[in-house]
Amino acid sequence: METNRIPFLDLVTPHRELKDELTAVFEHALETAGFIGGPMVEDFERTFGRYCDTQHCVGVGSGTDALRFALMAAGVGHDDAVITVPNTFIATAEAISQCGALPRFVDVDKRTYNMDVNGLAAYLADECFRNDSNGKLVDEQTGRRVKAVVPVHLYGQMADMDPILELAERYNLLVIEDACQAHGAEYFSRRDNRCKQAGSMGRAGAFSFYPGKNLGACGEAGAVTTNDAELAQKVRMLRDHGQAQKYYHEMEGFNGRLDSIQAGILGIKLRHLTAWNERRRECASRYRELLGAASEVIQLPIEPSWSKAVFHLYVVQVQNREQLQKHLGEAGIGTGIHYPIPLHLQKAYENLGYRQGDFPVSEEAASHILSLPMFPGLTYAQQDRIAQLVLDFVNGETVRIPKSTPRGSVMTSIGS
Ligand SMILES: Cc1ncc(COP(=O)(O)O)c(C=O)c1O
Repeated sequence: METNRIPFLDLVTPHRELKDELTAVFEHALETAGFIGGPMVEDFERTFGRYCDTQHCVGVGSGTDALRFALMAAGVGHDDAVITVPNTFIATAEAISQCGALPRFVDVDKRTYNMDVNGLAAYLADECFRNDSNGKLVDEQTGRRVKAVVPVHLYGQMADMDPILELAERYNLLVIEDACQAHGAEYFSRRDNRCKQAGSMGRAGAFSFYPGKNLGACGEAGAVTTNDAELAQKVRMLRDHGQAQKYYHEMEGFNGRLDSIQAGILGIKLRHLTAWNERRRECASRYRELLGAASEVIQLPIEPSWSKAVFHLYVVQVQNREQLQKHLGEAGIGTGIHYPIPLHLQKAYENLGYRQGDFPVSEEAASHILSLPMFPGLTYAQQDRIAQLVLDFVNGETVRIPKSTPRGSVMTSIGS
């Protein structure tokens, strides 16, 4: 029996390491009965806002809440269309629909798997028109007003935000970043000649703190980041039944608050996020060293010069993905597929009228991508073993990896 298992994600070890601090959060909540709102939520909002370089951060119940509330607070609603990508988790599109708007997709870039800015430009130029009477942009096929664009910073790498923001300015679109997989990811803006944080570039950013994220709670949690005080205030009301003052409801809202135990836990983990992200980057460059010899057969993640990715996932692309997954699985290596069916081909979105072939890059990716183990505690020895199995699979026994080198040392070649 295989005993040398390597999980896709190790969530147990970091919680074991932080057990005393995390338990103290529970104890504090029990002693004060402060379960909803209060100082732990406010402290976390302040610190995470600072981390993302935004003036406001509003804790909410999940990443889906964050997206939905951000869109609603920005004024997206019935009769609107919102542009996003098909290669994402369904929550991106759910949030759009749940505001009453219609998701419209543009394909992703085949190198980064994020929104293809040329595709976005082509959609806006060729598939939309300006309404003569009010100047608003309308999606030709559905007659809906195109109100916003939601770039997704998938797998921990930001979408190419400069051209997206330029197009948004030209066409008067709101930009809401889906940063649910991108805590701490950075983008070098050529426009502003400086690095910017995920969640700080659009009108608002939406984060998920689902346990497996780079910054994960011990349950459900999310946050909206923004520099727009009015939008932040609306999100605060939307998360709390439309009230700013207890029992005075200015509108209908939701029960979408961030609970204080989760906020306390997130505050503790946030202190480690920079180091954890650095470890993920180190693991990514180690994979690149180890697998570089097979890069003709396996497409490794590509990090453009403007991107500093935080590798929420390490996604490779290979023709015979199912066999590789089986080969790794039999050796005890956990893998994942993010995501096997692009949203435009999901049953849930049959009503949108898209067909196979509409978004070829997303479709191609969906059938060939495989996520290898990626987490801060992944060791060099574990990566050696994973890479050797991958190389054995693609090259037979022809490419061998030298014995594990200590963490931090640089490997220059992987020749036999
Ligand atoms: C890209 C993306 N958007 C939105 C979400 C939704 O976040 P949550 O599960 O916290 O609602 C996720 C979560 O997996 C995600 O990966």
